[in-house]
Amino acid sequence: MGEKNYVYMVRCGNGSLYTGWTNDLGRRIRAHRTGKGAKYTRGFGAKGVVYLEQLEDKSAALRREAQLKALSKAQKEALVQEWCRENRPPIQLGGVEDAPQIAQLYRWYVSNSTATFQTSLPTDQEYRQWVEDTLKTAPLLVMKDRTGKLLGYACAHPFRPREAFRWDVETTIYCAHDVRGKGVGTRLMSALLAVLKMQGYWNAYALLADPNPDSEALHRRLGYHCEGRSPRTGYKLGAWQGLSTWCYRLREGEETPEEPNRTPDLEVVKELIAQY
Ligand SMILES: CC(C)(COP(=O)(O)OP(=O)(O)OC[C@H]1O[C@@H](n2cnc3c(N)ncnc32)[C@H](O)[C@@H]1OP(=O)(O)O)[C@@H](O)C(=O)NCCC(=O)NCCS
Repeated sequence: MGEKNYVYMVRCGNGSLYTGWTNDLGRRIRAHRTGKGAKYTRGFGAKGVVYLEQLEDKSAALRREAQLKALSKAQKEALVQEWCRENRPPIQLGGVEDAPQIAQLYRWYVSNSTATFQTSLPTDQEYRQWVEDTLKTAPLLVMKDRTGKLLGYACAHPFRPREAFRWDVETTIYCAHDVRGKGVGTRLMSALLAVLKMQGYWNAYALLADPNPDSEALHRRLGYHCEGRSPRTGYKLGAWQGLSTWCYRLREGEETPEEPNRTPDLEVVKELIAQY
């Protein structure tokens, strides 16, 4: 099998399913998300991949695409449900009980990566406190596989301590190092941005090691823009590192902001994150 040929279904903004084939999954999904894909998803917007099958070549993929398109809505939904159960772990609300797994996931990056500028390994106990502090700003979102293994987490903290900055947050996203590139980061961050918007924050900032191409690609795709780069600002793993600042405008406008809601109704949050 040379190039990778897929058939896929994406859930559209109006709840319907769009079926297609591609030999470049990342590019195709990005096109659907950004309104540059099929005419249909341009009209309704694409939320995410809900079915995926890899075929051995293009003609097999085209045949399978035609078969899927001929299915009834109920048959498609049944396939989607089964695929999602296997392949799309739900996004959940995280709590203090998740601290040891979060600390373990993060420690890998402390030791092996410049994605974080931290160099000393944090303890589980420090992360219990970290979770408690994190929850004061916004819900902590986690994704786990069927065995309970943590696949990734996304969260937000105050961007700066002074009061006038209280509509700004700094977002954080980490995926387990062995599950990168499978859509976990995109789903978690999309859900987090929706929650932050609902809470009434105005700006979501992300501080990225420069370079960090995976993280830049993710943030750019989500709609963040780079506001500046500080070269040679940290020293880790035997080399000087830069830092870039990215911003996502949760709200546009100049009006007087209402106070953000730091303790949103968790049932409402659960309903919102279930859509991602
Ligand atoms: C940066 C990071 C958060 C990105 O998350 P990720 O899960 O690896 O990224 P995704 O899989 O969502 O997206 C990567 C690509 O896979 C594609 N993809 C593959 N399978 C997918 C699926 N099932 N659904 C959606 N997208 C999928 C995406 O479209 C994207 O393609 P593109 O880059 O060509 O557009 C993650 O790599 C990570 O944790 N890195 C280390 C820590 C880090 O740098 N954190 C950020 C600190 S600022």
